[in-house]
Parts: sequence; C-alpha cells; structure tokens
Amino acid sequence: MLAITPAPSHGLLGRNLLRTSDLSISELESLLRLAIYLKARPLHEQHALLRSRTLAMLFEKPSLRTRVSFEVAMTQLGGETLFANGSEFLVGSRETPEDAARVLSRYVDAIVVRTHAHEPLERFADASSVPVINGLSALAHPCQSLADMLTIAERFGNIAGLRMCYLGDARNNVAASLAEAAVMLGATIHFASPTTHRPSEAFLAHLASLSRPGAARAFTDPVRAVRGADVLYTDVWTSMGEERYSERNDAMLRPYAVTDDLLSFAQPHAIFMHCLPAHRGEEVASGVIDGERSAVFDQAENRLHAQKALLVALLTDCKGMPL
Ligand code: CP
Ligand code: NVA
Repeated sequence: MLAITPAPSHGLLGRNLLRTSDLSISELESLLRLAIYLKARPLHEQHALLRSRTLAMLFEKPSLRTRVSFEVAMTQLGGETLFANGSEFLVGSRETPEDAARVLSRYVDAIVVRTHAHEPLERFADASSVPVINGLSALAHPCQSLADMLTIAERFGNIAGLRMCYLGDARNNVAASLAEAAVMLGATIHFASPTTHRPSEAFLAHLASLSRPGAARAFTDPVRAVRGADVLYTDVWTSMGEERYSERNDAMLRPYAVTDDLLSFAQPHAIFMHCLPAHRGEEVASGVIDGERSAVFDQAENRLHAQKALLVALLTDCKGMPL
C-alpha cells in the first residue's frame, strides 16, 4: 500500500480557540508574529492561503467588527463564509449543541460561534471535528484579545513589563480575555471596579497560574489603579444579554468612566483602548476616544489581521510562514 507521510504540522492546526488561555504562551506569541507578518504582506500574496475553505459564522448576538472582519479575512485569504444569526441558529435550541456541531463539521472547514452562555459553546466545540472559534461568549472574547495584543505590541514594541488598567465591569468577557493575554505575555493588569464587578478570586488565581502572583490586582479606587499605567482599557458597562442590570451598572460604574482627568494619572505616553462599540459619555468621554492617545480604530483594524493569522494557523500547515 502507498505510504502517505503526513506533512509536518505545528501545534495549532485543527485546534479550537474558546479562551485565550487555550493557547500556550509560545502559541500566543507565534500567532502575533504571524499577524504582523500577514499584515505586512500584499493581498495578492494572501489570496490562495485558504482557497476553497468555508467558514461558518453562527451568531446569537449582534456584531459589526467580529462578523465583518472574519468575512473580509476569509475573502482576502481566498475562502468563503456563510452567516446565520439568532433567528436561524441558537446553540442548543433546535437540537443539541453536539448534533449541530457534528452536522456542520461535515459541511465547513471552521466555525465561529457567538453565544450568550459559554457552556453550550464548549459542548459544541468538543463535538466538532473542525476548529471552533469563540466569537464572544459570556465568559471570553479571545479574538478581541489577539487584536488588542497586536495593537499594544505595535505601539510599545514589547508587551512584557507594561502595566495595563481595565476599568468598569471587570468581570466581563473582554476584561477576562485581555487579562489572560496580558499576563501570559508578561504584563501586569490592574482591574478598577466596585467589589460587585471585580473578577472572582478563582479567576484572579487562574491569572496568577498563567503568569506569577501579583500580575493581576483588583482595586476599588480608580486613581490608584490607573496611576503609572501604560494602557487604559474599558468596555460597555452592560454587556449584551445583561440589559436588566443596566440601570444599576450605570450608577455603580460611573466613578470608573475614562475621562481626561483620570487619564492624567496614567503615564504621559499611556494609550486608551476599547473593544467597541462604545457608549460615549458613559464608560468613556468622547474627548478621550477621539483624542490623540486613543488606539481604538487601530484596534478595530487589527481584528482583521489577528483573525487572518488565527484562521491560517488553525487551517493550514503555515509552510514558509513564521509560526
Ligand atoms: N468588539 C467587537 O467584538 O465588536 P462587535 O460586537 O461589533 O463584533
Ligand atoms: N462586553 C461586551 C463586548 C462587546 C464586543 C458584550 O459582551 O456585549
């Protein structure tokens, strides 16, 4: 019988990405290197990388950046996408997450899922035979964290040793993935929130296990948390699906709004980041998001480059590329 020698593969081929910490530190660094490499390559060199590949995108919640950046990424890499939103697809509503995943795995090469709860997404991913990417769940937003780290690396050259400060709802998906990525790459992160919105002790211990004790600290005083920071980051006070808490959140999180006054306690070179969409005049003043320290639109652009790297890494052997 003809012996077929499998092509050498790297460790990310065929994997899922549900949380940033599903990656090892060196895999996270490799993805960022690949994103920087692909961002610098002309489009005509990229359009065969995912030829004939199909990405399904199943979204229970609205999206602008995640949906469009994945669609454009696949188009520029020579592949195709198909999209279904909440009215057509809710993980686990018409059939079990496992049955839906097994069926879709027969049709497509990878699947991005945006869900409310994280647990059905885990069941879906466990049953899928093609890579499943978390496009935002209640627990995590790993794709956002890849773009965030790419943006910070571009601005500062190096991530290790930086101090980041996340203000507002420090228990949310974006905060969790940002914090995982930051400590994995050797930065420290301060969370600034009332005690009701601080990360759980279990999550802080998880962050310490990814890095070292003290890499993540929770503060109630926003000025103490911000002092000396290189990066200030916030997100909406009320995440999708939690609208019933919005009045309470508005009242409790007001002292953590990012204003020019609060920014003055950070390093003079500090940058402002936000995953977007932003609620101007709530978690961030318009002057800050439009100001010269704001990196938010570079961050949004980098969703495209970081996700291209992710798709290429999960779906190809990355021959000739820095992975
Ligand atoms: N930042 C982000 O995920 O944006 P969308 O909700 O528009 O996808
Ligand atoms: N925390 C926000 C992020 C949106 C990109 C939400 O879950 O709605």
